Formats: sequence, structure tokens, C-alpha cells
Amino acid sequence: MPFKPLQNKHVILGVTGGIAAYKSAMLTSQLVRAGATVDVILTEAAQRFITPLTFQALTHRRVYTDIFYLPPNESAPHVALASEADLLIIAPATANTIAKITNGLSDNLLIAIAIATDAPVLIAPAMETHMWQHPATQINITTLNKWGINVIGPATGRLASGVIGEGRMTEPDEIFDTACHILSKHGDMAGKRVLVTAGGTREDIDPVRYLTNHSTGRMGYAVAKAARNRGAYVTLISTAFCPTLAGVKLIPVTSAYEMNKEVLENLMHVDALIMAAAVADYRPEHVSSHKIKKEASLFMLALERTEDILQGIYNQRHVAKWPKCVVGFAAESEHLQENALAKIKKKGLDFIVANDITRHDSGFATDTNKVMIIGADGTIADLPTMTKTEVAHIIWDVVFAK
Ligand code: CTP
Repeated sequence: MPFKPLQNKHVILGVTGGIAAYKSAMLTSQLVRAGATVDVILTEAAQRFITPLTFQALTHRRVYTDIFYLPPNESAPHVALASEADLLIIAPATANTIAKITNGLSDNLLIAIAIATDAPVLIAPAMETHMWQHPATQINITTLNKWGINVIGPATGRLASGVIGEGRMTEPDEIFDTACHILSKHGDMAGKRVLVTAGGTREDIDPVRYLTNHSTGRMGYAVAKAARNRGAYVTLISTAFCPTLAGVKLIPVTSAYEMNKEVLENLMHVDALIMAAAVADYRPEHVSSHKIKKEASLFMLALERTEDILQGIYNQRHVAKWPKCVVGFAAESEHLQENALAKIKKKGLDFIVANDITRHDSGFATDTNKVMIIGADGTIADLPTMTKTEVAHIIWDVVFAK
């Protein structure tokens, strides 16, 4: 059963008065689906934008709005919620609420909890650009950072005024991802350092064209995210499609040459390397600095071999201590098991994850994968079709069961 950072966690979500309050409903839904118990607090201003009923329907729990509400035989909500919380999220957080927290002005339930709790706090500011850039707000944000409070965003985009600028609340997906990261610290991979590669490399032909493959990076991202959610320090070296992942060190690269360089530079102290990237085996011998014009009816492009990253690591593994475990992928269209076993031997791998790319439910650009995980000792786990996230967790189970 993979570690789920939000499962059975008590999250307090504070919503303050901004137009982004409607997005807090989406965030609530995500938190509930991830297994968290979510108690929502709406400030008076927030209730001008969204009603308690919305959140009650999503959480199946009472929504708090009043600091003076004291249920019979229960302690004051700000005391109980503050001590029970595993995480307090304030999204959206207005300039007003941020200022009150940094000045200890607890004149509503949300701020009273923010000041009373020992739980980690995650704040997603949302306001007009001038308010965000005002020295008062900036000093308050510096104070929050100094206190170890997590501040996410704001993003740049269309604001309530219609103007494009800095001040838009970070999207719920990203806030959710950051919440997972904050609560993952005690996962079963805490203290492990892992290096993951993702995506297909690109090899330039000229300023317009390049050679690449069908890899989207989904499998590598799933592997990185699963490790992050189980508490590991994760470095992700990824190509082209490169969204950031909270708590993951992302190194964007383009070509096999760059990927090789970054992998070698980041190997020190790594417990496991998972090479999920589809690395080009060949690149153009010469990259034209100008766009190549069409002339003859037949065009020949001379290609040279790229660096084989795993082969290079194998060649130096007898002298280097790291990585302790190396996992390769084998995307095959025929003789799956035979080819995968040959790659384990040739590249000195501890495990190989082999998949048959001719299947419609496996391989590139799908959300699922049908893989075999083969160990250097010949053990074979032939897994059924499952999501890439599920495959990712099984890979980590296998790697750290070693
Ligand atoms: N790989 C690598 N460096 C390369 C090519 C591949 O490190 N230049 C890694 C991939 O990331 C993968 C494993 O080697 O983890 C197997 O990749 P694959 O493309 O299946 O095999 P190749 O070794 O390239 O052999 P072939 O293309 O002939 O099947």
C-alpha cells in the first residue's frame, strides 16, 4: 500500500475574501479525494464570494465562520482545530489576512487558528498587483518566510480588475501538490536521495528541426512524484515538457549530451537512479547553423552515436560508490523479455522495467502501463495493466526492498 501523504490527515482550509475563493472549492474536493479530513473556515469577506454550503457539500462537515460559536460540551473551535490540524492552508489569502497574521491581530477564527497552531502553514496570496508589490505586503511576506511559513505564488495572469499582472492565486493543482510535499516528510522513503530522468531527448538538425521520439515524460514524472510523496529528496532531469513539481529539484535539458552531463553531475550520494527517459541513440553528425533548404529529391543525414548514459555509469560503477541502485527502462516492440534481459547484463542494471510499446494501453503517451520488472538475479514480476502512478510506486517498493 503506497504512502499517501494526505490520507487520514486533518487539513484546515481557510478561505478569505477574494474572487479566487471559488477555486478553493476545487482544492477542497482534491484534498477530500486524497483521503484528508477537511475543515473549512470562511472569513466574513469570503462569504460574499462563496457560501458555506458549497464546502459543507464537498466535505460533509460543518463549515466554520464565527469565532464566537461555541458548541455545547466542546472546546472553542480555534483551540480544537489549531491543535488537531496536520496542515493549515489559507487560499486565497488577501493582503488584509496576511497583514493580520504577521501582526498577531486575531480578530477572526481563521487568524486565531493561524496564530494558535503548531501545524505547518501554507499560504496562497491573491490580490491586485499594486497591493502585492506594496512594501507593507512585501515586508509581511518576508516575515512569513522568516517564520518558516510556506508561501506559494502568487502567479502572473488575469486579475479580477481585468488587468494582467502578478497577484493571481496559484492554481489549486499546484497548491494541492505543495500540500502533498509538506505532508510527505515522514514517508517510507524519507532520507533517501533519488535521481530520475524523464522524457524524450531532442537532437538538433538545424535551427528549425530536430530528431526526437514519442516519449511524453509521463512515466518519469510519475516516478519522481511517487518518490516525493514518500518523503525522498528527488532530482528530476527532464526534457521539453517540464512542469515544476513542488519539492522536486528540476533540471531541464534538451539533448542526450546535456542529459548525460547532468546525470553524471548529480550522481553523488544518490541511493537510486531511475532512467525513465527515452534517450536518443543517434544525433546529426553536424548541426547546420542555417535552415537546410530543400534541393535534391533524396536527402541523406549523417548520424553519430550519442553517449549511452547507463553504459557510462556501469563502466565507472566499480570505482564510484553511487548510485547504490540503477534501474533502466526497456521499451520494446518485440522479444520483450529477451531484449530486457540482455540490457540488464550489458548495462549492469539492478532492475529493468520492460514494456511492450505495441500495446494500446502501454508505452508512450498513455496513462497506463503494462510492465515486467526484471531483477539482475533473474526474478520477474509480470504486472497487470495499471496507472503509471501505480507502476511508479511498485518500482520504488522493489528498489528499496533490496
Ligand atoms: N539509455 C541511456 N543512454 C542512451 C540510450 C538509452 O542511458 N543513449 C537508457 C534509457 O534511459 C533506458 C535504457 O538505457 O533506461 C534502455 O534504453 P533503450 O532505448 O530501450 O535501449 P538502448 O540501449 O538504446 O538499445 P536499443 O535502442 O538498441 O534497444
